[in-house]
Amino acid sequence: MTSHSYPLPRKPGVQIPAVGFGVFQSADAYASALGALETGYRHLDTAEIYYSEPETGKAVSEFLAANPTLNRADIFICSKLWEVDLSLPGMPPTFESMGHPPPDGSGAWKTTAAKLGRTQYTTPDAIAGFTRSLEKMGPGIEYIDLYLLHNPRPGKQARVDAWLGLQEMEAQGKVRALGVSNWSKRHLEELVADARVTSPPTVNQIEFHPWCQQRELVEYCKQQGIVVVAYSPLAQGTRLGDPVVVEVAEKYGKTVAQVVLKWCLQSNVVIIPKSDNKKRMAQNMDLWGWELAEEDMEKINGLDGGIEARVGEWDPDAWE
Ligand SMILES: NC(=O)c1ccc[n+]([C@@H]2O[C@H](COP(=O)([O-])OP(=O)(O)OC[C@H]3O[C@@H](n4cnc5c(N)ncnc54)[C@H](OP(=O)(O)O)[C@@H]3O)[C@@H](O)[C@H]2O)c1
Repeated sequence: MTSHSYPLPRKPGVQIPAVGFGVFQSADAYASALGALETGYRHLDTAEIYYSEPETGKAVSEFLAANPTLNRADIFICSKLWEVDLSLPGMPPTFESMGHPPPDGSGAWKTTAAKLGRTQYTTPDAIAGFTRSLEKMGPGIEYIDLYLLHNPRPGKQARVDAWLGLQEMEAQGKVRALGVSNWSKRHLEELVADARVTSPPTVNQIEFHPWCQQRELVEYCKQQGIVVVAYSPLAQGTRLGDPVVVEVAEKYGKTVAQVVLKWCLQSNVVIIPKSDNKKRMAQNMDLWGWELAEEDMEKINGLDGGIEARVGEWDPDAWE
């Protein structure tokens, strides 16, 4: 069975807890992040584009202040650099506001490099973006455990340039490990082929659940020693009525969500489910002391619908 954390490659002493908690689209990000910590999660996943870095940092600082037997090293925080600088004038002020037209009458927010006409995946902008992420987490958070380039979209040169900026942040001790998200095998190969890349990605965070298994990419990452973090591991709750997982859940006396998350863990990936509900938060981390039998793993393996079955926007192979 999988251990409760994975060592990050080439990062002595840095362990990523196998069960984390996503702070994206929470009704109240601070309440959910704090609730998750109180429930026992020790790994929080936020991002610049989620607009939940301040709430995540505040939740960690206040939780640690209320629990003096714990310290910063007991909590693992991941955040991510978006492809455009969201602090520029004309950017949406909140994640929720992206669902509404901007007041300037332009019809759409410019949250992608294509719409803005420039990316922050440059070396100085990546440093500035990382620095903003860290500052937004507040005075109690002096380093980030894991920082990712959120997407491959701005292109090859931009990916390398941004990476070089993040390497500087790592060298200065402001971040303990670096990774990527939504990257394909080719993106990873191209990055490490650059001689200036001296600290290769330790993590690739991708959509992964029974209906979208991205097996080739997962296998490639494992061969390279890259830890796979499964986002939307519950397929955002959209497939929990699938008769195959319902039947397996009944067999084990577990909830469907627990079976889906356990299948992810037994596939040797890290999971970061999101919930605003404390009962579900507890349920989603009550995953130890029982195992899915090989035959049930195989049944769930058979549900893979390929990248077309994803619930999010990212097909890693769709980007140059
Ligand atoms: N890197 C990327 O591009 C990327 C993209 C998407 C997500 N992510 C990360 O991955 C995290 C998780 O992904 P996600 O939020 O997209 O989806 P998810 O965790 O697969 O699903 C969350 C949904 O499932 C519901 N849910 C949670 N526990 C449940 C349970 N036990 N039973 C039934 N329903 C349950 C939640 O509702 P309630 O809140 O009401 O419980 C919510 O609607 C995000 O928070 C974010 O940190 C990363």
